[in-house]
Amino acid sequence: MDTDRAARYAVAPYTSPFLAIYDLWVIRLSNSFAWRCAAETMLSLYDEHLGRRHLEVGPGSGWYLANTTAASEQITLMDLNPTPMEFTSRRLADRDTTVDTVIGSVLEPVPASAGTQYDSIGMNFVLHCAPGGLDDKGIAFTHLGRILADDGVLFGSTILNRRPRTRFGRALSFAYRRIGAFNNDADDRAGLERALRESFRHFQIAEVGDVTLFRARRPRREVQP
Ligand SMILES: C[S@@+](CC[C@H](N)C(=O)[O-])C[C@H]1O[C@@H](n2cnc3c(N)ncnc32)[C@H](O)[C@@H]1O
Repeated sequence: MDTDRAARYAVAPYTSPFLAIYDLWVIRLSNSFAWRCAAETMLSLYDEHLGRRHLEVGPGSGWYLANTTAASEQITLMDLNPTPMEFTSRRLADRDTTVDTVIGSVLEPVPASAGTQYDSIGMNFVLHCAPGGLDDKGIAFTHLGRILADDGVLFGSTILNRRPRTRFGRALSFAYRRIGAFNNDADDRAGLERALRESFRHFQIAEVGDVTLFRARRPRREVQP
């Protein structure tokens, strides 16, 4: 299957009915009991880093943006699938925040309509969906680094190709790979480090349960996608 098609397959499960149960199934049950990493661990990245102008890549149900204690004046949502962006926009409608949406894939340059100079970019649980190994899909960091302000921060998390610790995690991993929702069989920590180093001067990686969290600063402007 070509990359474009595989990327579309990976976003297909995010329908309105699935997003309606997403918080229970993914945020609560899967994070804690399959991956052994409570959603609050990822939420703390938002609390710490959400900036005045924020780009959220792959918002899913928008739980993190809806629950962070940090405030943002302007949030742009970017996703290959419009449904998670519509769902998240509705969820944030009563906030004192302007919300824009842009259809785009992390595997392609960010559409010009998204603008530049973001203070923060969040990309949580997106990389393991995108097809290809990290040496290829790591291009996402280059694309996003180009629209991050010099003093901005990119943060997020992903599930690498290690054997999940729990039986529930192993069953989910198997099922999600089968339906093309997970494309992480070639994703290892060395590849993540290479991809981050290629696009950022400073980065940190941490592991909690089966989840690998990252934050990166100082995008390398000389990198050409
Ligand atoms: C597993 S969900 C994560 C949702 C939310 N960020 C979270 O952590 O709960 C993956 C999200 O990323 C989006 N996505 C997957 N592949 C993408 C790609 N190549 N480009 C842009 N968005 C993508 C999906 O449509 C979905 O909204």
